[in-house]
Amino acid sequence: MTGRLHDKVVLISGGASGIGAAHAQRFAKEGAKVVIGDLQEEMGQELIVKINKEGGDAEFLLLDVTNEDSWAKVVSSTVSRYGKLTSLINNAGIGSGKKTEAETVEGWNRICAVNQTGVWLGMRASIPEMLKVGGGSIVNISSIYGMVGSPAMIAYHASKGAVRLMTKAAALEYAPKNIRINSVHPGIIETPLAMAMPDKHIDIFVEKTPLGRLGKPGEIAAGSLFLISDDASFVTGSELVIDGGFTAQ
Ligand SMILES: NC(=O)c1ccc[n+]([C@@H]2O[C@H](COP(=O)([O-])OP(=O)(O)OC[C@H]3O[C@@H](n4cnc5c(N)ncnc54)[C@H](O)[C@@H]3O)[C@@H](O)[C@H]2O)c1
Repeated sequence: MTGRLHDKVVLISGGASGIGAAHAQRFAKEGAKVVIGDLQEEMGQELIVKINKEGGDAEFLLLDVTNEDSWAKVVSSTVSRYGKLTSLINNAGIGSGKKTEAETVEGWNRICAVNQTGVWLGMRASIPEMLKVGGGSIVNISSIYGMVGSPAMIAYHASKGAVRLMTKAAALEYAPKNIRINSVHPGIIETPLAMAMPDKHIDIFVEKTPLGRLGKPGEIAAGSLFLISDDASFVTGSELVIDGGFTAQ
């Protein structure tokens, strides 16, 4: 690894599992100080033990992305521990397989609270710290389902589409302050969230993916690594699609 993130302190929401965990491992290898914020304490603690054993510098903090006080505590603890916060990966998310008539108001509100409000709260809590150090970078994990529709998952589509446009709005707002904000749009990636889908749905996705397979969590982390690093110094308000060609058709 090349130490591309040696001067970065990165907070990763939902970093205990799946795509977020892959970010934590890769970023630590690239020299970042990594803070994993998640509801899953045991998994998060196990992951940081592994990262630190391998020579990284990581910490776990309990975070509920739907709660503004929780964000405030995590951001403040991050700055106390590492002196600054330069980067945020807004990754925590939950799925829903409900169609329009089957979705409940409770289900809709829960999906939007985590996937949409959580992303806004994360940006709102972190940006003041980035302003203090003259800039920063945020990656918001959306989905290909924030760009194209499917005949299911109405609330998920709504929340991920919101993440895509919130990203562009915030990017415009903070470009003059040197904070870059981009979205990443994974296709179907081998994680607990995607594997909760019935096998026949997964088979259909594989069949419809030009590269002929599911993606791996590390392939999403590699995209975010570019966006968070100084290599992406002229990239803001953009959307990086990592989907094996799914949305090119
Ligand atoms: N796996 C895919 O195929 C896929 C595709 C497109 C987008 N995504 C997006 O990628 C992101 C990560 O998904 P994943 O597949 O790794 O899922 P995952 O279930 O493996 O991990 C999600 C993590 O978010 C955490 N989380 C959930 N609610 C939270 C809350 N309120 N506060 C803090 N943490 C919370 C969970 O505890 C979990 O550790 C999500 O935003 C998801 O929508 C995933």
